[in-house]
Amino acid sequence: MAAGKPFDLIIRNATIQTASESFVADIAVAGGRITTVGEVSGPAREILEARGLVAVPGGVDAHTHFDMPYPGGATADDFESGTRAALCGGTTTIIDFATQARGRSLLTTLEQWRSKAAGRALADYAFHMAVTDLSASASREMGRLVHEGVTSFKLYMAYPGTLMSDDGAILRALQRSNEIGALVSLHCENGSAIAELVRQARAAGQTTARFHPLTRPPALEAEAVRRAVALAETAGAPVYIVHLSSAPGLDEVRRGRARGLPILAETCPQYLYLDAREYERPGPAAAQFVISPPLRSREHCEALWQGLAAGEFQAVATDHCSFPMRSRPGQPGKDRGAKDFSRIPNGAPGVETRLPLMWEAVQKGRISAARCVELTATGPAKVFGLYPRKGHLGPGADADIVLIDPKHRTTIAATELHHAVDYTPFTGITVHGAIREVFLRGKRMVSEGRVLGRPGDGLYLARSQRQFCL
Ligand code: URP
Ligand code: ZN
Ligand code: ZN
Repeated sequence: MAAGKPFDLIIRNATIQTASESFVADIAVAGGRITTVGEVSGPAREILEARGLVAVPGGVDAHTHFDMPYPGGATADDFESGTRAALCGGTTTIIDFATQARGRSLLTTLEQWRSKAAGRALADYAFHMAVTDLSASASREMGRLVHEGVTSFKLYMAYPGTLMSDDGAILRALQRSNEIGALVSLHCENGSAIAELVRQARAAGQTTARFHPLTRPPALEAEAVRRAVALAETAGAPVYIVHLSSAPGLDEVRRGRARGLPILAETCPQYLYLDAREYERPGPAAAQFVISPPLRSREHCEALWQGLAAGEFQAVATDHCSFPMRSRPGQPGKDRGAKDFSRIPNGAPGVETRLPLMWEAVQKGRISAARCVELTATGPAKVFGLYPRKGHLGPGADADIVLIDPKHRTTIAATELHHAVDYTPFTGITVHGAIREVFLRGKRMVSEGRVLGRPGDGLYLARSQRQFCL
C-alpha cells in the first residue's frame, strides 16, 4: 500500500481456511480486492477483529434456477430474493441457468436473463445457457455466447417434450463446445424410460409422491451417465455431470475417468443429507422433496459422502429451484400435484443452507475443512472460469470473504431463512458454525444476520473459457 493511503478494510487474526491450508493471519482489502493475506500494518478505514473466526472465500454456487419460467409463472425466488438468501448463507457468486425456450435465439435468452438479474441481484452472478433446441443457428450462437462470458452449456437427458435433448443434439453440443472452448454439463436421467414408468404408475392408480422416486430409479441415472461419458468420449470433449445422486451413477463417472476421460461431477446437499424415506410422509408434506433426480436410499448418500472425501467431486452446488407449497399468482406450487405426483413442480430451495451444511460435514469429520472450501468455492470457480478472481482467498482476488463462527450452533428452520418459500427440506438439521460476516468485493453485505447489501450490488461476471481441476 502506498505510504499514507489507508486500506479500506483489515480483518485481523482470522483463521484463514483455503482449499489447501489453514493459518492465522490478517487480510487487507483495497479497491474491492484482497491485497495481502499475512501480517498487515498500516492505517485502514475499518478494522475488524476476527480472532476465533474462520475466514473462507465467498461461496460459488454453480447451480441455481432463479426466476425460471414454469407453466403458470416462474420459480418463487427471483434474483433479488435468491441472491439475498445466497449471501446470508455465505455464497457471494451464483451461476444461474438461462434457459432457452424452444425455437428462441440463445443470445435473446441471455439478454432476457441479464435483464432479470441486472439491478436486482445482491450477489455477483454469471450464467450457463441451458440449451433445449440446438438448431444450426443456436449452434452458431454458442460461439457468440462464449465471447459474452457464457462458457458452459447445459443439456437435459430428462424431461421429454420440454427440456430434453436427444443423443444427437448432445453429441453436437459436445463437439461444438470443443471448438469454442466451452464446457457441456448434463442432467443425467433417462427421460424416455422415466416417462414410461410414470405412465405405468398413473395407469395403476399410483399417484402419490411416494411413487416419484420409484419412477426414477438409480439405474436410469447410471445409464444416462454412461451414455454421457460415451458421447463425451466420442466428441473428445470433457463433460460435467450436474446433481449426481446415486452410487451407480458415481461408479460410471469412475469408469470413465479410469479410461482417462475428463469427467467432472457435482452433487448437492440434499443427496447427502436426505433420503427417500422423506417420500413416506403423509399428505402434501412429501411433495417438498419432489426433486429430480429424486432422493435415494441411505447407501447412496454414504457412497456420495465417500466420493466427496476422496476428491471425486469438483463441486457441491444446490440446484436451488423453489416452488411454494401452495400455488400463488404467477408462482405454481407443489399443490399442483396433489392428485398426481407427476404434476408436482420439481425442485427445492437450498442456496442459503449449502455452506452451513457442508461446514457441518467438517465438524462431523466427513470431509476436511480444505475440502469444504474446495467444493463450495474454489472447485466450481476453477471449473467454470471464475478462478482466481472468485473462490480464492489470496492477493488479487475479489474481496469476497465469509467469516464463520465455528462455535455457534443452529437448527435449520424456514423462518430463519431468506428465500421466498415457506419451507426448507433441511428443517431440523443442527449445524455447528454460523455465518457472521459476508463481504462482496470488500463491501459488507451481511453482518450478524442483518442484510446490509442492496439490490443492484451484484454484478454480472463474464467467465473465461474452461479450466480443469481433475
Ligand atoms: O428438480 C429439479 N432439480 N429441478 C430443477 C431442474 C433441474 O433438473 O435441474
Ligand atoms: Zn437438472
Ligand atoms: Zn437444476
